[in-house]
Parts: sequence; C-alpha cells; structure tokens
Amino acid sequence: MTILEAVDMRRSRRSYTGEPLTAADADALNKIISDINKKGNLNFKLVVNNTAAFEKTRATYGFFSGIKNYIVVAGQSSDNLLVKLGYYGEQIVLEATRLGLGTCWVGGNFDKKSVAVPDGVTLYGAILVGYAKNNKTLKEKVISSALKRKTKTIEEMSEGLENAPLWFAGGMKALQKAPSAINLQPVKVRYKDGTVTASVEGKTRHQSVDLGIAMYHFEIGSGGGTWELRNHGKFEKD
Ligand SMILES: Cc1cc2nc3c(=O)[nH]c(=O)nc-3n(C[C@H](O)[C@H](O)[C@H](O)COP(=O)(O)O)c2cc1C
Repeated sequence: MTILEAVDMRRSRRSYTGEPLTAADADALNKIISDINKKGNLNFKLVVNNTAAFEKTRATYGFFSGIKNYIVVAGQSSDNLLVKLGYYGEQIVLEATRLGLGTCWVGGNFDKKSVAVPDGVTLYGAILVGYAKNNKTLKEKVISSALKRKTKTIEEMSEGLENAPLWFAGGMKALQKAPSAINLQPVKVRYKDGTVTASVEGKTRHQSVDLGIAMYHFEIGSGGGTWELRNHGKFEKD
C-alpha cells in the first residue's frame, strides 16, 4: 500500500477485536514511532495491553470497544507543539494503516491521569491502534453518521484554487481526507501570488492538531514539500 492509498483507506476505527498486537506489528510500530520521535524531537509512545486510560470513557462520543493498545501523543512543551504533534502523529497513523492496523485519534474522552509523562512534556491525547473489526459495527456506523461523515469540498477548504498549479489541487484532495476532531475540517489553505499558507481560525488545542494533520496530508498529495509547522505557516514546494 502506498502512502496515498493509505490516505484513501484510512477511517477512524472505534471497535477493535481485543486481540493483542503480534510481536511483528508491535516491533514495526515501535520502529516507526522511534524514527518519528527522532525527526520531530517528540515523545510518542506505544502502550500495549493497558487500557486504564479508557476505562471510564464509554458514555461519551467515542464509546470505543475492544481497545488493547494506544499511542501516547506527547512532546516537549514548546511553541506550536500541537501542530507538530498533528503533523508527525498523522505520519504514524498512515504508516499503521499501511500495516493493516485500525487507528483513531483521541483528543477528548481519555483519562490523562493514567498516563505518566516526564517533566516538561505536554500530553495532548492518544491514537488508538489495533485490529479493527472487519466491517464497521452498527455502533460505529451510528457514530460516523452522527459525525456526518460528509466532507467539505476542496473549494470550501481553500482559496485561490483556480489560479494554483495542479499540485495544489492534489494536495487539497489528500487534505480533504484528513481526520479532524468532531469532523469539523477547520483548516483553510490559501494560494496567493505563488505562496501557499495554511491556517485555522479556532484557538482550541484540537484545531492546532487538526492543522498539523492537514499539513501532512497536503504535503503528500502535492507530491512533496516542506511546511512551517505553525498557524499561517508557509509551504515550500520541492
Ligand atoms: C485531533 C483529533 C481528535 C479526535 N478526538 C476524537 C475523540 O476524542 N473521540 C473520537 O471518537 N474520535 C475522535 N477523533 C476522530 C474524528 O471524529 C474523525 O477523524 C472524524 O469524524 C472524521 O472521520 P474519519 O477519521 O473516519 O475520516 C479525533 C480526530 C482528530 C483529528
């Protein structure tokens, strides 16, 4: 599976089989996470066979089942940390998708007190990871439709599309498939006088993470480039 195929295939999965990760899958994930931590100077961490953080969360919008494992989403406190966590965390999500694993970002219903992080490290939330049930369960379908898995158009999510080169539309198509908290799709990408920037209007922690995730999707769909990882950050095409 290519990374662009993973963009197409990925869906947030909330019902898992409860099977533990095989040693091969756990090793592969740990390798991906360690590479990303080095690249981004971050503190993502795989937690296996321990779901204490999710035990009290059944009643809220995620109501997950069969969770066995998750990835702690955390990094050294710094400016724009949340944008970075989104950008690098989505790389882990798409690599996990390529391994055939189900994932779901979790920013809300999650007991942060059961996750220990070192001093100076900020915890955002988690990414569930594991073997998703083969087909979406009825419960998952209800949640997906409650979250209205309809999508904004790429015109709604961008400005200057009509004047932009073809790679811009490619970036937008991949960005359109990016996950976002409560499916708000809050990120806007602008093309003006040859310059590409991306921003969110809301100031919530979730929207900063959404911005980083969207930036990574745009980068892949455009065929490559480099983002300034901050609100209104610029994209330098390769
Ligand atoms: C930053 C972030 C936080 C999220 N938090 C939660 C959460 O707390 N509970 C949940 O069930 N889903 C959560 N989601 C998943 C979104 O609801 C989901 O991405 C969105 O509805 C789009 O659906 P899709 O991922 O299947 O494309 C989160 C997604 C993102 C990107």
